[in-house]
Amino acid sequence: MFFMNLFRKQRDRSSASKSTKWNPHELPTHIAIVLDGNGRWAAKRALPRTAGHAAGAETFRRVATYCKNIGIKYLTVYAFSTENWSRGEDEVSAIMGLLEKYLHESIEKMERDRVKMKFLGDTTVLSPKLQALIKETEEISKKFEGVQVNICLNYGSRTEILRAVQSLLTERVQKESMTEEEFSKHLYTAAIPDPDLVIRTSGEKRLSNFLLWQSAYSEFYFTDTLWPDFDENELDKAIIEYQSRERRYGGVK
Ligand code: IPE
Ligand code: IPE
Ligand code: MG
Repeated sequence: MFFMNLFRKQRDRSSASKSTKWNPHELPTHIAIVLDGNGRWAAKRALPRTAGHAAGAETFRRVATYCKNIGIKYLTVYAFSTENWSRGEDEVSAIMGLLEKYLHESIEKMERDRVKMKFLGDTTVLSPKLQALIKETEEISKKFEGVQVNICLNYGSRTEILRAVQSLLTERVQKESMTEEEFSKHLYTAAIPDPDLVIRTSGEKRLSNFLLWQSAYSEFYFTDTLWPDFDENELDKAIIEYQSRERRYGGVK
């Protein structure tokens, strides 16, 4: 607990009172983040990987609040992939435990935070307790407008695409009706616009099975900062970089 408080104080100082330099009229509607580097953050401090995940959860709450405050409409975070089950059982159960704790706290603070929360991925394989918390969180928060936070849990983009194909086949959708728009409606992200900006922390430059279909025309931003060290200033930097890009969608300017 001591190190968490110390770590929070340091960051509070570093992110206070810095003026933002981005244009409030050209904010990305949807920001998606591959939050990576929790394990390395912990290793640098000779802490167990779990401590990195706990710190990462704090960062997530903080970044979500900031997104809400500045007017971002959608924030999607990659919290647990279909491939992350291959980690040690201890780490997986610690992550699931942290998720439960996070959701309990979110439900408690729901009326104060007023954030709509959705879960993307196959959550049916999670523990009944976690599934109940997910259901409750989605149910209570659906009335909130402003920011929608999507948490990708047991999410894998290839599985998502395959499931979409399977459901289109089950519905016997005619070949001619299988448009990009129709296809998108069968993804976990149906009704969510494609991400404008995809951020990955920790220096890795890959998607790791995240939003493969949806990121066709996203802008990518990579930072060496480890996720637990990411904060409002880091997000500002990403938004500034995003606003300096020219999105051409294959056309010319
Ligand atoms: C991201 O941090 C969180 C999850 C994938 C659950 P990592 O746990 O991947 O951290 P590193 O990449 O090992 O540092
Ligand atoms: C991607 O991070 C998955 C999540 C952030 C949930 P990983 O750490 O699992 O990805 P790789 O193994 O480095 O590609
Ligand atoms: Mg990683």
